[in-house]
Amino acid sequence: MMVNDLKEIIFTQEQISERVSQLGAQINMDYAGKNPLLIGILKGCFVFFADLARHIDLKCEIRFILASSYGFSSITTGNVKVGTELDFEIAGRDVIIIEDILDSGITLSAMRKLLLRNEPQSLKICTLLDKPTRRQIPIDADYVGFECPDEFVVGYGLDYAEGYRNLPYIASLKPEIYS
Ligand code: IMP
Ligand code: MG
Repeated sequence: MMVNDLKEIIFTQEQISERVSQLGAQINMDYAGKNPLLIGILKGCFVFFADLARHIDLKCEIRFILASSYGFSSITTGNVKVGTELDFEIAGRDVIIIEDILDSGITLSAMRKLLLRNEPQSLKICTLLDKPTRRQIPIDADYVGFECPDEFVVGYGLDYAEGYRNLPYIASLKPEIYS
C-alpha cells in the first residue's frame, strides 16, 4: 500500500482545499474584468490546477505545457525538457503559469523565458508549494499556496518516479524509498 511508504502528512486535504479556494479568490480579484490564459506545467500541476480552476470565476483559457527535469530521481538534472509545442497564442495575453512546486527554480525560469519570448501582456506565477531555501536561480512566485519544508514530498499531483500522484494530501516519503 502507498501509505506504507510515507513518513508524515505535511498538508492535509482540508488545509489544501481551504488554501486553494483562497488562491482562487485572490486571482478572481486581481484579474477581474480580464480574460487570463492559465498555463499548467504538466504533469505535477494536474490535481492542483483542476481544483484551482473550479475556484476561478472568470472567463479564462486553460492550456498545458509538458516540462520535466527530473526523470526518475529526486534531484534536479538542471536540464529542462519541454515536451509540447506552444501551439496557442500568448502575445498580448495575461498569462498565469500554474505549477505544483517551485524548488531550484530551474523549471519555472526556463518556462518564464520561453513565454516571455512570445510577448504576453503580463506574466505571473502561481505555485502550490514553494521551497525557498532550495533556490539555485532567483525567481519568486506571485501566488504561493504553502511554503514547504526542505523535504521531498509527494501527492496531490506531485510524484516520485511517477508514483504517488494520486494521494489526496501532500506527504513526505520515508528516506529508504528514494535512497
Ligand atoms: P525546480 O525546477 O527544481 O524548481 O523543480 C520544479 C519541478 O521539480 C516540479 O515541477 C516538480 O515536478 C519537481 N519537484 C521539485 N521538488 C519536488 C518534491 O519535493 N516532490 C516532487 N516533485 C518535486
Ligand atoms: Mg515531477
